[in-house]
This record gives sequence, C-alpha cells and structure tokens, in this order.
Amino acid sequence: MTGPFIEIADVSKEYPGVVALEGVALTVAPGEVVGLIGENGAGKSTLMKILGGVLAPTSGSIIVDGISHDRLTVKSSMAAGIAFVHQELNLFDNLSVAANIFIGREPRQRRARWLVAEKRMNAMATPLLQQLGAEFAADAPLSALSLAERQLVEIAKALSVDARLIIMDEPTSSLTMTETARLLDTIRRLRSRGVSVIFISHRLAEVQDVADRVVVLRDGQRTGELRGADILPDSMIRHMVGRDIKVRHRPASQPPGDSLVEFRAICTPQWPASPVDLTIRAGEITGLAGLIGAGRTELAQVMFGLEQPVGGEIVVDGEVRRLRSPRDAIAHGIYLIPEDRKRSGLVLDFSIAGNVTMADLGRYSRFGLCNRQAETLAAQKQKRALDIRCHDLAAPAGSLSGGNQQKVVLAKWLSMAPRLLIFDEPTRGIDVGAKSEIYQLMRDLSDRGVGILMISSDMEEVIGVSDRVVVMHEGRIAGELGREALSEAAIMSLAVGRARHPSQFELMET
Ligand SMILES: Nc1ncnc2c1ncn2[C@@H]1O[C@H](COP(=O)(O)OP(=O)(O)OP(=O)(O)O)[C@@H](O)[C@H]1O
Ligand SMILES: [Mg+2]
Repeated sequence: MTGPFIEIADVSKEYPGVVALEGVALTVAPGEVVGLIGENGAGKSTLMKILGGVLAPTSGSIIVDGISHDRLTVKSSMAAGIAFVHQELNLFDNLSVAANIFIGREPRQRRARWLVAEKRMNAMATPLLQQLGAEFAADAPLSALSLAERQLVEIAKALSVDARLIIMDEPTSSLTMTETARLLDTIRRLRSRGVSVIFISHRLAEVQDVADRVVVLRDGQRTGELRGADILPDSMIRHMVGRDIKVRHRPASQPPGDSLVEFRAICTPQWPASPVDLTIRAGEITGLAGLIGAGRTELAQVMFGLEQPVGGEIVVDGEVRRLRSPRDAIAHGIYLIPEDRKRSGLVLDFSIAGNVTMADLGRYSRFGLCNRQAETLAAQKQKRALDIRCHDLAAPAGSLSGGNQQKVVLAKWLSMAPRLLIFDEPTRGIDVGAKSEIYQLMRDLSDRGVGILMISSDMEEVIGVSDRVVVMHEGRIAGELGREALSEAAIMSLAVGRARHPSQFELMET
C-alpha cells in the first residue's frame, strides 16, 4: 500500500466555550516529515493528542493505514505504530533512564520472569541514547538529569518502539544547538527508513531545515500548507499570524550602570574546581551561553540562593553577602524565572489570575482575604502586556496551551518590580509574535536599569538580545563576547572549548 499513513479529515474539538480545532485536515505519507506550526494556543498539541489517542475529537474522521476510526485510544494508537513525545514530559523521577524508556515493556529475566532483566534493559537502551548523542548512562536515575536530558529520554522512548509515525511536540525546546542538530539528523535517518515524523516547533529555522511539508494552524483552523523551497520563515510567519512580524532587536540605550552582583571565584558543587568571576550590571542584558551541563543553571541557582557555593564570595550592591536562600536573594530584588514551568510554581488547577499574583499575595490580600478585584486588574495588565491567549482569567492555568502557561510564569515574576532578573530559557515554547514582545519587554526593563542575566540555548535569541555574551565550558567561563563580536561561530567554538587562543575572536577582558 502506498497511500498516506495518516488521513485526518474535518476534525473538530470543542471545550466548553472554546473551539480548539475546527474542521482540520492532515495527511502524513510514509517517510514524510511534516512540520506543524502555529501560534501558542493554535491547536497543535490538541490535534496531536487526538492522533495519540489521548483526546477524543468532537467530530471528524481519522484513517490510519487505511482503517477508519471514530477515535483512537492510547492503546489503538500505539498498536497502529504511533509514538508520542509529549510537550510536557511524562517521565518518572524515581526510575532509571532505561526503566523510563521501557516502562510497561521491560525485558524479563529468563529464569525468573517476574524480575526485570536490568542488564539487558540497559544494553537495549544504550544504542538509542548514543544515537541521540546523550552523555548520560542508561542506568542513571532520571532524577539526576536536566530538563534537556529528560527530553532526550522521551525521544529515546519513542525510538524504542519501532514506530511508523513519531509525533514530536516541541522536542527541541530545551535542547541546545548540538543536541538539536543531532535530533534533526536522527529525524532524517528515520525518514530514510520510511518512518514518518510530525515535528512541532516554534524555532522556525529548524522546521525549515527538516520538514518536507509544513502545515499551519491558526485559531484552531488550518490556514496553509508549504512545501519544499516555499518553506521560508517569512511565509511561515505570515500564515501563522496573518501578518508580517519582524523580530527587531533594540540595542541598549545607555552604557551599563553599577554592579548589582559580582561573583569572585565562585565555585559550585557541580564544578568545585572551576572558579568563576562574573559581574552583572544594572541596565545590561548579559547572555549566558554554553552546552547542556556546562554549569549555566548552577551559576544562576547560586545567584538566586538556591544553591550554596563551595568557594569564593558574592558581592551584592558593593558588599560581600551570603545568599542562603531565595528569600535572601529576593530581599535584594534578585529573581530567577526557571525554565521548567511544571516545577516553577505554576499551579495548574489554580486560576490564571491567581497564578499571576501568587508570588506577591501580600499586595492583593488584606486580613487574609484575597482582593479579587485587584488581583484581576493586575492579571489583566499582564495578560495584555504578554498577550496571554485565554478566554477567562478565572479559568485554571492547566487549560492554557503550553506556551501560554509559560507566559503566565513570566507574568508572575514581572509583577514584582525586580532589580536583577535571571531568565532561564525565557522563550522556551513561546511563539514568534510573543517572543518579540518578550524581547521588547526585557529591553524596556534594562533601559529602566534592571540587570538581566539570560540563559538561553536559542542562538538567534542570544545573539539578538544580549549586550554581551558570557560563554561557559565545563564549569568555567570560556570567554566573553561583546556585541560587535557576537556570532554563532564565535559562541560555538567557545562553548565546545575550542577557542584556546583569545586572539581568535575579539575577546573582551573578563
Ligand atoms: N482542557 C482544556 N479545557 C479548555 N480549553 C483547553 C483545554 N486544553 C486546551 N484548551 C484550549 O485549546 C486551545 C488549543 O490548545 P493547544 O494546547 O492545542 O495549543 P498549541 O497550538 O499546542 O499551543 P502551544 O504552542 O502554546 O503549545 C487553546 O485555546 C487552549 O486554551
Ligand atoms: Mg502545544
């Protein structure tokens, strides 16, 4: 049979008061890589959940491999050869990497079928991990892995089932350039073996790089399709938002101000022998680049009092201080906006408005009672500022699309009048339009004298937004690049530890 593997026709999905999908069609041929793009809340994940059997459509037809279904169940979807890498990772912290990959399908010991054959399971997982360039072992506990590494585990899990179609819902959102490049290679290899891939990403350059065909959704409807050479960022954006968006980067309007935080030979527990000197100034956006595991997040955690340094001293506003906990950091106006929205205090069953104002309840409550009106007003302001797409601020945060949840996390911290903001992957999972608004917002904050430290794996973002970029390699600062010296190549060679000779790039004095 050479027909399409998947044929979805006229599929709709309604929630009370929300039409998430309306009459959408999608076909996928064997060995085809289909990019699925659209703004936050456009309906991408909903459509994929229908294909994965997680959600039943309100109406429409789904044909898989010539067989028609009213709806798929998780089981029938898997049986048909569909594997799903979810946007919100579904892994178990207390199991090993290999146990997560083979969960429910663990190989058993020959003599004792009730026991898992750990060694064999690890041996089965290892080549899958190698294929993805993972640098952790199959028997490592999942709890020891970073978000990006967990994402690789999810992908390895999909690879392990011999799927005919792999759905990847924002698989690269927390991968860095090298990991992303490896994943795109893996996708091409899958394609050459006849496996189909549906690839969802807000990083349009990747979509252009890997997709044979791109399908665009807007407000639950299919608004366009692009093929081959027509897959260009500008046309993708036009179909997504119905207008042109130029992501403009505005340079700093003034030279940087006073030092807010200075690290003097700070060593983190992860890199105890790598002292780091780093100064964050008011009114400056400092980008922190590096590969996964280079120590960027650990530095940020020390600055926010989440982690205690094992050496060195921290100078805050000109005085040596100890930041024993986030409370100490917050007392100095230092805030960290973490990358992982699931662990960053977004309470999914709480209302959207409640989440926005949660960090600063004191301001909205009196005598222990919450002032709903003030809360709603503050939330409305942030909703406008960040273009949070929702019908009702009183709806639970869990009903928002992935990217809109991320905006709520941002809104929560921005309502606090920070002096130094540490962003860990600020636009992870956020669409082009909202991205450019967030960059605008960061620049406005820095013009008003707020210091910003931005950890980002998105090269375009690091280069476009930062006033200077500090690049880390294996726990050390490998170099610093001023605005004029910023390029992908310069950052990459420092990140992989290649640029030993400072004159190779215009290294600024650190
Ligand atoms: N359980 C739910 N109840 C009500 N509305 C929902 C629910 N789940 C999703 N929605 C709505 O359906 C729409 C589509 O959401 P979906 O998650 O498919 O968007 P998306 O395209 O994946 O966006 P993103 O890029 O942000 O991940 C959104 O308006 C969302 O708020
Ligand atoms: Mg989504």
